Amino acid sequence: MQSGFPLFPESASTMAGQVDALYVFLVAMSAFFSLLIAASVVYCAIRYRRRSPDEVGGSFHASMLLEVTWTIIPLGIVLFLFFWGARVFFLQVQPPPDALELTATGKQWMWRFQHPDGQREINTLHVPTGQPIRIEMISEDVLHSLYVPVFRTKMDVVPGRYTTLWFEATKPGTYHLFCAEYCGTEHSGMVGWVEVMTPEDYQHWLAGGAAADKPPAEAGADLFASIGCNTCHVDAGGGRAPSLRGVFGRQVQLANGQTVVADASYLRRSILEPPAQLVAGYQPIMPTYKGQISEENLFKLIAYIKSLSDGGAATPAPAADPAAAAGADAPAATTGAAAPAAGTQGGAG
Ligand code: CUA
Repeated sequence: MQSGFPLFPESASTMAGQVDALYVFLVAMSAFFSLLIAASVVYCAIRYRRRSPDEVGGSFHASMLLEVTWTIIPLGIVLFLFFWGARVFFLQVQPPPDALELTATGKQWMWRFQHPDGQREINTLHVPTGQPIRIEMISEDVLHSLYVPVFRTKMDVVPGRYTTLWFEATKPGTYHLFCAEYCGTEHSGMVGWVEVMTPEDYQHWLAGGAAADKPPAEAGADLFASIGCNTCHVDAGGGRAPSLRGVFGRQVQLANGQTVVADASYLRRSILEPPAQLVAGYQPIMPTYKGQISEENLFKLIAYIKSLSDGGAATPAPAADPAAAAGADAPAATTGAAAPAAGTQGGAG
């Protein structure tokens, strides 16, 4: 199918078949009605043409049956399409809960990806087959859009807001990855490759081939200590700021009376604009970190905060003692290390 002139991209995800079926149905239906209408126009033009210069047309009375028929049938067709389309849409925007979580940052003009164990790559994305993959994405500058045609999936990557894309690859191979949103001079060069591998090859790649940082949750624990978050966000509670243990995914009561779910977007905003969604019972004393923490470091901090909610596996950062905080890098790294890594891809460590 890929040789010569490919009319259609290959299918390499569990979603592809469903998207294709809907697409083929839409095209077939449009073609059917286009032909039907064009043929009727030609037929009527010939059948009812004027045969002599002084011919007068006959009178015509509306037919209720005809009116009702050509209202009801198209209504049924578009409603059918609406429900079918909505089903595929919901499938695309609801990642399975057991999905492997990767992060992506778009930047003029490259894609940066990071795996749960810390492996990083640029413009290339290695993924295993048979495992749902969820990519949490953000842009460092302008709008981009991550598009992998063989997976039939595409999602905007927006500055200041997390978006997600998920897929489950089915077929090993090397496939195109595009930026699908015009983002400046070198938009057309913001492309790369998805390497779909068998789960065994993926494990090998994780263990060997990749340039790896610390796992994001672990790097986030270091950061949390090195910029001094832990001096106020005391893990055991009782600090000047709320403990972050178990916060991720929970409802948070705000000072303005509202409640929000502490998801990644809420945490990101609370780091960059602390007073915006202040937690009830605390003073607005936290400084803003806007412009001081890169999007990638924000991902790490959030991964760390999230790890504090994953079954309590993560070890608390060293306690509130400022003396401990000063030398906290090393202990935080070692203690934080065991937990998230064990929970995710044990084989790679
Ligand atoms: Cu990034 Cu186009």
